[in-house]
Amino acid sequence: MAAPRGQWSGKLGFILAAAGSAVGLGNLWKFPYITYENHGGAFVLVYLCAVALVGIPIMIAEIILGRRSQLSPVGAFGKLAKGLPGGKAWQGLGFLGVSAGFVILSYYSIVAGWTLRYTWMALSGSLGRIATQPGALDAFFGNYVADGGAQILGNGLFMLLTVGGVYFGVKAGIERVARILMPLLVMILLALAVYATTTAGFPRAVAFLFRPNFSELTNHSILEAVGHAFFTLSLGMGAILTYGSYMGKTESIPMAGLAIAIIDTIIAILACIVMFSIIFTFDMGVSKSAGILFTTIPAVFYQLAGGSWIAASFYVLVAFAALTSTISLLEVVSSYAIDELGWSRHQATLTMGLAIFVFGILNALSLGANATLSGVAPLGKTHAGVFNTLDYLASNWMLPVGGLFIAIFTGWVMSARDTWDEIRRGSEGSRTLYDVWRVLIRFTAPIAVGAIIFSIIFLGMEYQ
Ligand code: PHE
Repeated sequence: MAAPRGQWSGKLGFILAAAGSAVGLGNLWKFPYITYENHGGAFVLVYLCAVALVGIPIMIAEIILGRRSQLSPVGAFGKLAKGLPGGKAWQGLGFLGVSAGFVILSYYSIVAGWTLRYTWMALSGSLGRIATQPGALDAFFGNYVADGGAQILGNGLFMLLTVGGVYFGVKAGIERVARILMPLLVMILLALAVYATTTAGFPRAVAFLFRPNFSELTNHSILEAVGHAFFTLSLGMGAILTYGSYMGKTESIPMAGLAIAIIDTIIAILACIVMFSIIFTFDMGVSKSAGILFTTIPAVFYQLAGGSWIAASFYVLVAFAALTSTISLLEVVSSYAIDELGWSRHQATLTMGLAIFVFGILNALSLGANATLSGVAPLGKTHAGVFNTLDYLASNWMLPVGGLFIAIFTGWVMSARDTWDEIRRGSEGSRTLYDVWRVLIRFTAPIAVGAIIFSIIFLGMEYQ
């Protein structure tokens, strides 16, 4: 007999766990860096619209699918599509989600491993020594990522923490980690934000973020904003769907979806305020890709009083955020084995965690350690190496395609009677809200996401 399905302890448990999934490297690393590249203001505004018009409706759709089916993605589509157009074929969407979880976790945990190393270096003082020598941070980072052993070690440590979170189940594992880490994360970020307001660069940071200049907006930045809305809200692969399957029937789905999106957005904006305030204070340029978090920011910290404490708390913050996200990625893959293959949670977590870690070795060695793995470029030269190829594949293809079909399934294939019946539970009387959601999920979201996919295929655009 299978164990009874886990459940969150209540409304807060679900919101904290799902917000933990959403808040991650996407908020603290990717968002500040793409905001910088897209000149702030107008891009931030488009991103906020994308969250509201595409992100929130798809988030609500995923929660509906999970809670209605009480299953993780593969089983959920199998059960809900029975007798509807497309039938069993919809399960493919579940498999796409599970594969996306596997792939994303295999490289995400490598970057997450870097945060452990930098936390340790901040505490031991070695980060301070290199941060004050010109060029030393870049040199260190270059050597570090090319050190295969160090990459495998960091990845392994982070996977152990992740497995630890998922192993103990929905309430005693996932929710407990989120309950401890999310408030800590918010406290550290708020402390850093208060600090940022005292720096000379603060007013410029605020103007940069909130004074839109629409002449700087390109088609490309619009696509990038919409694509990032998916990644940062953990949408398109069934992570929120899976968490929704552990949600009680007496809670309001629209309110929870709204709360998660708002928390995620506030944290992304706060991260920008912190980083841009200090970057503008010292007039530093922001380097592309991983640079902002691991080579630009530490140099700035050590120009401030108490630099090593700021640096240490900052990397702990990033590590916490990453951990609650990796936990949700592993939960999607493990819950497939639990729900569909009948494995025990312990067996599923350990086996899948190990499999993803072993697969992740390919990523770990593709940042310079192994020439072949670092050079392969099946999807084009701008995504050279296994790591970059998989990141491109997952965030440019798997998540938007998954999101598009989730919108089509919930908006067009499932009946309004069924979706209303699920939303209604826990949020009685909000028929108007439901009607707004239904227009967004049937028209706005699929058209916007369809436009992204169309542009990638036919116009050769990327939003990464
Ligand atoms: N939302 C996470 C972040 O912003 C990443 C993520 C994507 C997690 C998809 C789970 C599923 O870092």
